[in-house]
Amino acid sequence: MAVTQRNWDALFAARTRGDVGEGIAFVLGFLGRPDLISFAGGFPDPLTFPRERAATLLAEFAESGEATAFQYTPTQGLAGTLDAVAGRLDAVQGRRPADDELLITSGGIEALELVGKTFLDRGDLVVVEGPTYLGAIMAFRGFEAEIETVPMDEDGLQVDELERRLDAGLRPKLLYTIPDHQNPAGVSLSAERREALVELARRHGFLVVEDVAYRELTFGDETLPSLWSLAPDVVVQAGTTSKTFLPGVRLGWAAGPAEIVAQLVSGKQNTDQCSGALGQRMLEEYIRRGWIDEQVVKSRALYRRKGERLLAAVERAMPDGVSWTRATGGFYSWLTIPGCDTTELTARAAEAGVGIVPGALFYADGRGGENVRLSFSMVDESLIDEGIDRLASLLA
Ligand SMILES: Cc1ncc(COP(=O)(O)O)c(C=O)c1O
Repeated sequence: MAVTQRNWDALFAARTRGDVGEGIAFVLGFLGRPDLISFAGGFPDPLTFPRERAATLLAEFAESGEATAFQYTPTQGLAGTLDAVAGRLDAVQGRRPADDELLITSGGIEALELVGKTFLDRGDLVVVEGPTYLGAIMAFRGFEAEIETVPMDEDGLQVDELERRLDAGLRPKLLYTIPDHQNPAGVSLSAERREALVELARRHGFLVVEDVAYRELTFGDETLPSLWSLAPDVVVQAGTTSKTFLPGVRLGWAAGPAEIVAQLVSGKQNTDQCSGALGQRMLEEYIRRGWIDEQVVKSRALYRRKGERLLAAVERAMPDGVSWTRATGGFYSWLTIPGCDTTELTARAAEAGVGIVPGALFYADGRGGENVRLSFSMVDESLIDEGIDRLASLLA
């Protein structure tokens, strides 16, 4: 029987027309191209996955007859996992959230989605730094928010420029920032700007959404205070375990004022109801046994080595005029290639066997056309030089 072609598009909700784009699907699509030397996705190196420890924990749960790991959980998270994550935040950020200030989420992205769901009506204003994490742009656009971009420099978001715009009448509900080893720019927000930013939030009555996805993956010794630890009254922190544990369990957290966390929990009831128990129990044990601390030390060394190799290759191979940021942690370097259409370059690079992400995906306003994000996290170390040589030869 012939199937009638229907026009479903006419029935789609207005929010689907919010120009969310296909950015995340585009980047995840690189996982299906193992033939590429890929600097594309911000994926952790599989060398960091705790395979044996994960197997040990699963066997323990099964053999001990434990039901919790295989059951639904409270929407806010398992009490033990909340306690372990709270303890870790205390250890690494110097502040322990109270019991009603923390929520376990299904990845960092769910924390952002829940913040959007809680705060954003159509036309509400969100300020982001430019460039920024495309998943955040997509999450906020999904709620039909307006997005205003404030520029960054090597010290992160230009807080003085933000202040100027606020004084001129800008009225955001939310300000989204990635203060540590930013995605995609690889820079961090300076200590002075952190203090200034939270003061602006207090003065102008907006909420800071702090994304700490790469905070622990610093290459040096210096860590600056998290915005949430500086100002827990005006900051919601969105965290993820995807880069330090494993993305296969899709776990993260949101920490913030109790009144806001209660709304996030409420919103989570009809997204996924609760984050997966199996992952939560694994994460709890992974933290309690000190395994996460051991892994973070190894991961830092690995990503540092790869980052240095990438920068050396870029330095050696890129033609004059090209510039790039020098990551001190995280996964990324941000290239500026004057006069180049980097969307077109991305297609040509893929033909030459190299995966990159065009800069325009990291802006909400069409900028970034001369930029490229290079990720050094997952690419095989021995292929970095070859990949950068191929990319550079396209620019010659
Ligand atoms: C800045 C930033 N925030 C959040 C996420 C999402 O993390 P998750 O995989 O836990 O959803 C990512 C992942 O790349 C990221 O780069």
